[in-house]
Amino acid sequence: MRSMRYKEQRKKKFGGIMQPQALKKLSGLLANTYTVAVMTQNVHWHIQGSCFYAIHTMTDKQYRELLEAVDMIAEHIRSHGGMAPACMEEFIAQRTVSEPATGLQNSDDFVQHLIDGHLELREHLLGIYAVCSDPATTDMLDERLRAHDVMIWMLRSSLSHL
Ligand SMILES: [Fe+2]
Repeated sequence: MRSMRYKEQRKKKFGGIMQPQALKKLSGLLANTYTVAVMTQNVHWHIQGSCFYAIHTMTDKQYRELLEAVDMIAEHIRSHGGMAPACMEEFIAQRTVSEPATGLQNSDDFVQHLIDGHLELREHLLGIYAVCSDPATTDMLDERLRAHDVMIWMLRSSLSHL
């Protein structure tokens, strides 16, 4: 039989089961990341104007990255004892980022909505550090922050009125 000390050390190394408050925040991160991925696809499909090809191509890369992040966040939640939101009803209930309606739109307003979504998600991310301090989670949050900062920069740079 293994000692309590061994179990405690192993738990620390792995990160262990997270507190419900932390898991809830990560579920919100997942739902918001999914929402921004869908918003990005909305731009990818419905953007119109002279920048169509550039924005269509850029958003293709961005939504793929966001969907990979959704998978990473879900697996992080599962490996720390939580249940990941995995149906549209749960995503809608847990997201805090607001989406614009679907429809053909000219570039600047449409891209600005997407930038606003990233900024809201960034705020949500920053709030998670207070409840998650283990290295694996903070590393993931750092990675997500960097990814959103690059996407915000690229989207802002594509606006015609800088
Ligand atoms: Fe596509």
